[in-house]
Amino acid sequence: MNIKLDTELCRIFNIRYPIFLAGMAGGPGTVSLTAAVSNAGGLGTLGAAYMEPEAIRSAIRDIRKLTNAPFGVNLFSIRATDDNTRTGEVQRELNDIRNKFGLPQVAGEGVRTPDHFEQQFTVVLEEKVPVISTAFDVLPAHMIEQAKAGGIRIVTMVTTVNEALLAEQAGCDAIVAQGSEAGGHRGTFDISNRPMGANIGTMALVPQIVDRVHIPVIAAGGIMDGRGLVAALALGAQGVQMGTRFLTSVESGAHISYRQKLLASTEESTVITNVFSGRPARGVANEFIEVWEKSRLEPLPFPTQNTATRDIRTAAAKQNNPDYMSLWAGQGLRMLTSGQSAESIVQETINQVQIIL
Ligand SMILES: Cc1cc2nc3c(=O)[nH]c(=O)nc-3n(C[C@H](O)[C@H](O)[C@H](O)COP(=O)(O)O)c2cc1C
Repeated sequence: MNIKLDTELCRIFNIRYPIFLAGMAGGPGTVSLTAAVSNAGGLGTLGAAYMEPEAIRSAIRDIRKLTNAPFGVNLFSIRATDDNTRTGEVQRELNDIRNKFGLPQVAGEGVRTPDHFEQQFTVVLEEKVPVISTAFDVLPAHMIEQAKAGGIRIVTMVTTVNEALLAEQAGCDAIVAQGSEAGGHRGTFDISNRPMGANIGTMALVPQIVDRVHIPVIAAGGIMDGRGLVAALALGAQGVQMGTRFLTSVESGAHISYRQKLLASTEESTVITNVFSGRPARGVANEFIEVWEKSRLEPLPFPTQNTATRDIRTAAAKQNNPDYMSLWAGQGLRMLTSGQSAESIVQETINQVQIIL
C-alpha cells in the first residue's frame, strides 16, 4: 500500500498538510487558533455556529490579518426553532441548580433562540471564505449553489454511510467521517429515532464511507497524533479533522478549569449526553450530567435545551466550576499536552507521520 501525506485533499483545499482543525463553537475555537493551524500548513476552521452574524464577519477579517493561507468557517446547518411544550418542568429542574449559583429563577414561559442561520451564511458568503463546513446536515441546496458560484469549498460532517451519500449527492467537496470517539456534538443528521445519534467507531466508519463515495473523506474522532493520521490514511481517508488535540493548545479559547479537567482526564472520562443542548455530544462526565439524569426528565430538543441551560454554564465558568460547564472532549485524552502551540502540534504530528512512513 502506498500511503502518501500529500493527498488530493491537499490539492483541492490548497493546504500543505491534510490536517483540518475542527470548528469548535462556544469558546474553544478562536481567531488565533484558526490562523495558527492555517499558518502551520493545515486548514484552520472557525467554529462560528453560536456567533452573531456581524461577529463572524469581524472574526473572518481578523483571521485574514493573521494569515494568507486558506481557512474555513463552520456552521450548524439547522434552523433554530424552539420547542417550548415542556419548558415549565425543565425550568423547575434547572431552577434548583440556579439556586446553587445564586442565579435568578426562570419561569416556564418559554425560551427564545435567535435564528441566525441565513444571516450567518450570508456573511460567510459575502466575506468569500475559502471553505464552509457544517455539522447536523448538508447545507440547503440554494446555499450550496451560492457557495459554489462564489468558489467556496463545502465540507459536511457525517456519522453514517447514508449521510455521506447525501452529502456527496448534494455536491460537497469533501466529507468529514465522524467516529463515535469524537469530542463535541454528534453530527448525525436525524436524531428523531435515535436521541444519542449514530455512534460508529472511526475505524469501522471511515473505510465503509471511503468504499462508497468518490469525494475525499476526512477521518475524525480520537485522532491525536501522527499515528492516528497514518491510521486514517491507511483506512483510505485523505486527511483528518482534529478537535480535542487543540483544546489545550496555547491558542485555544477553552476555559482554564476546562483545560485542567481535560489534562486530568483519561480514555474512561467521557460520555455521550444530550442534557446540555438537546443534541447528543461527547464530553467529560460531570455533576450537571449526573444531576440531570437523576431527574429522569427528557431534555428539551436542540437548541431550546442549549439556550435554557446557558445561564448556568456561564455562571459555572465565571466561578471556575467545571462541574456545571459543558466539557466537550473526545476519547484520546491521555494524549493531550499542556502549553504546546498549535503550530507545534501540527508540526509534531507531521514529523511523526514522516518517521512512520
Ligand atoms: C470542544 C469541541 C467543540 C466542537 N464543536 C464543533 C462545532 O462547532 N462544529 C462541528 O462541526 N464540530 C464540532 N466538534 C466536533 C469536531 O468537528 C470533530 O468531529 C471532533 O473534534 C473529532 O474528534 P476529536 O475531538 O477526538 O478530535 C467539536 C469538538 C470539540 C472537542
